[in-house]
Amino acid sequence: MALREILIWPDPRLKKKSLPVTVFDDDLKRLAEDMLETMYANDGVGLAAPQVGLLKRMFTIDIFAGKEQRPADAQPLVIVNPEFLEKSGSIVWDEGCLSVPGETAEVKRAGLVRVRYQDVSGAYHEIEASELLGVALQHETDHLDGVMFVDRIGKLKRDVIRRKMLRLKQDLETERAAV
Ligand code: CO
Repeated sequence: MALREILIWPDPRLKKKSLPVTVFDDDLKRLAEDMLETMYANDGVGLAAPQVGLLKRMFTIDIFAGKEQRPADAQPLVIVNPEFLEKSGSIVWDEGCLSVPGETAEVKRAGLVRVRYQDVSGAYHEIEASELLGVALQHETDHLDGVMFVDRIGKLKRDVIRRKMLRLKQDLETERAAV
């Protein structure tokens, strides 16, 4: 397993549309493991393949990541080729993103979703979710379409966050150059 580097917004690669996964082989399983490891190492509850520079329609979610209270049967989700069968109601959630470190903002989402998806072996599943899991499924699927949560907030707040991220990226580059 290996940690992958997470792209920081704004980055043109985060605006691209990802392609459906058609091959369910060992490479895909390895990528899923890398993504889970990278997600946990960065204290995230979700990570989409385009965030590590791969335009594949897949993401990982673990809504109990970093939580003390973890149900015994809690399993991380690896979601491939997700498709919304139903979206209803609405919910406002304070969202964050590993590609926008340290920042959060309120986003309006569907309150209840039903999603059809494949696992890393290609088998089909259906899941119905609300609250954090429902929001995470929508946030991560957005990544596969090149949409960031900051694209769904007001321009004023987005511009403030953009300036902070540009400064952060500059600092990281300076750090790297100094090594
Ligand atoms: Co995100």
